[in-house]
Amino acid sequence: MEIIICKTKEEASRKAADLVAALLKAKPTAVLGLATGSTPVPMYQALAKDCAAGKISFKKAKSWNLDEYLGLPPTHDQSYRYFMDKNLFDHIDIVKKNTHVLNGLAKDWRKEVKSYEAAIKKAGGIDLQVLGIGSDGHIAFNEPGSSLTSRTRIVSLTPQTIKDNARFFKKAADVPKQALSMGVGSIMEAKRIVLLAFGANKADAVKGAVEGGVAEEVLRLARRGGVEGGACVRSACPAPCRGPQVTSPRACGSP
Ligand code: PGA
Repeated sequence: MEIIICKTKEEASRKAADLVAALLKAKPTAVLGLATGSTPVPMYQALAKDCAAGKISFKKAKSWNLDEYLGLPPTHDQSYRYFMDKNLFDHIDIVKKNTHVLNGLAKDWRKEVKSYEAAIKKAGGIDLQVLGIGSDGHIAFNEPGSSLTSRTRIVSLTPQTIKDNARFFKKAADVPKQALSMGVGSIMEAKRIVLLAFGANKADAVKGAVEGGVAEEVLRLARRGGVEGGACVRSACPAPCRGPQVTSPRACGSP
């Protein structure tokens, strides 16, 4: 595992975007594992800029996302399909049908997750997985304590995750209580993982990820599997933050 500490989230995001760009240049047909949330947004912006400048192309690439809320249609502005379209896919040259997000409206979720996993396998597996981390240490919707062999499945959101995500909804009661999520075991099969974490509220989660917990297990087991290695990109500031130096300068001054 390589840990890269950067002064700002923009710098860390640029480094992560460079990893994706390098992969696309080496393998235009790359299979990307993508994440939602506020964390990857600056990285997606950097990639969109590179694509507009003709430096990279996603034309032959494919993508699979980590998770989707159960019960939200793709047109819902808080669905992860909507998020991906607005924050990345609408700004790059990827072919939309090559972008995959779990169907939160699937009538038979078992069938949905089975075919999702089968499609990833058929594509050759994820070459590079982008990950954020929740303030409680969750990866996708896998909360700490999730089985390390868990596969893509239906999961219940914890009160902490519902609280964290309530900021995107009108009220906490509107946050779906369940989601479809790739499992820890499914994520671990990625050939390379880039985990990004910014802000003081992620300090404890990153400490746990580096020193133990689900994220560390993902990265450790990925290494054991002979994978090239994951990069944990962190944004740091010199001010006295909670836990390790993991925050953006802006967040550092925040309460
Ligand atoms: P965030 O969420 O990027 O919005 O902080 C990360 C996560 O919950 O995995």
